[in-house]
Amino acid sequence: MQEAIILVGGKGTRLRPLTNHTPKPLLNVAGSSFIRHQIAKLMDAGVEHVVFATSYLASLFEEEFKDFSQDLAISYAVEEVPLGTGGAIRNAGRLLRGDSADAPVLVLNGDILSGVDLGGIVELHESREADVTLHLTRVPDPRAFGLVPTDEAGRVLSFLEKPKTTEECVTDQINAGCYVFRRSVLDAIPADREVSVEQETFPQLVAAGRRVFGHTTEDYWRDLGTPLAFVHGSADLVAGKVASPLVDRPTDALIHPTAVIDPTARVTGGSTIGPHAVIGARVVVNRSIIGGSVTVAEGAQIHESVVDHDSSIGSESILREVVVGCHSHVGAQNELPAQLRLSCGIRIPAQGVRVSGTAAACLTAH
Ligand code: GTP
Repeated sequence: MQEAIILVGGKGTRLRPLTNHTPKPLLNVAGSSFIRHQIAKLMDAGVEHVVFATSYLASLFEEEFKDFSQDLAISYAVEEVPLGTGGAIRNAGRLLRGDSADAPVLVLNGDILSGVDLGGIVELHESREADVTLHLTRVPDPRAFGLVPTDEAGRVLSFLEKPKTTEECVTDQINAGCYVFRRSVLDAIPADREVSVEQETFPQLVAAGRRVFGHTTEDYWRDLGTPLAFVHGSADLVAGKVASPLVDRPTDALIHPTAVIDPTARVTGGSTIGPHAVIGARVVVNRSIIGGSVTVAEGAQIHESVVDHDSSIGSESILREVVVGCHSHVGAQNELPAQLRLSCGIRIPAQGVRVSGTAAACLTAH
């Protein structure tokens, strides 16, 4: 029986306020929660049992899957206090059902969107008789990441901290957040404390001469941990730049059948419009996620942004790379700049924020 563990216990702080009430893997991308895309992909790869390693808002995962009727067993390993990535893997390992010490166990971070062939990694792991196989991806600028150099045979040489200088960029390969563990190696991770798999487990295995291999691929890969990456990931799923069994056919925009879109509005770039949303005349929604019951008034423009459910955007307002929390209101003729994150329930009055052009006239009586 092929088994998998998905790490879903993180707080997702970089995606707040979207993650205030919803764990990152349960946020909607391309019409389904992200975790459902991952589950569908795991099932396609022949996985029959998944253990969710939960902590933050743990009960919401059981809620999400309580009516799941497909041919997949799901277990929940709940951490009272977060155990870090290594501790979480070890803790979830208690619920695995296979009894072979050599069985390959797939482990996925719950926030990585990737086109990699999961069954292919497991096959490679077994053919190399590896202790751990890591999926590695190449990035154009490796300075923001820990690096994972390998030899010609793919054997991991070391795990390097984020490089500070160009000379320290000895490779452009980074850990892609998807692993295959030999079951006995997973079971040897300490169970009584917080452990980071990247900083502790993997470097120790390499130092001990264990068989740790990398599998470097050119497949689509994106870590959905930041707002911009999150909207781009969703748009790429909708537009078919990365495949998901849950997205039938690539399209320019995924519009819920109950949403009402004015014929003069333009919804493009892989945007998603949620149920009961109302999009007004001449609105532009580009590469963005519009949640359920959101209203966007005439002439507003929303680029590379997320507007969470039950919020409203006033006429002629412009949002670029912005996150609007749920139940918020952005009045008319605002211009919200990149990286702004509005908390849930915030109200910005008309003409309250502008970053370019002529400032609004003084609204107070002198
Ligand atoms: P940020 O707070 O924005 O950094 O996000 P995060 O909390 O998700 O952390 P990060 O992106 O580094 O986590 C990578 C993956 O590991 C995500 O899928 C997390 O859900 C998961 N994760 C991180 N820490 C833990 C933990 O202590 N326990 C469990 N079960 N999962 C974790």
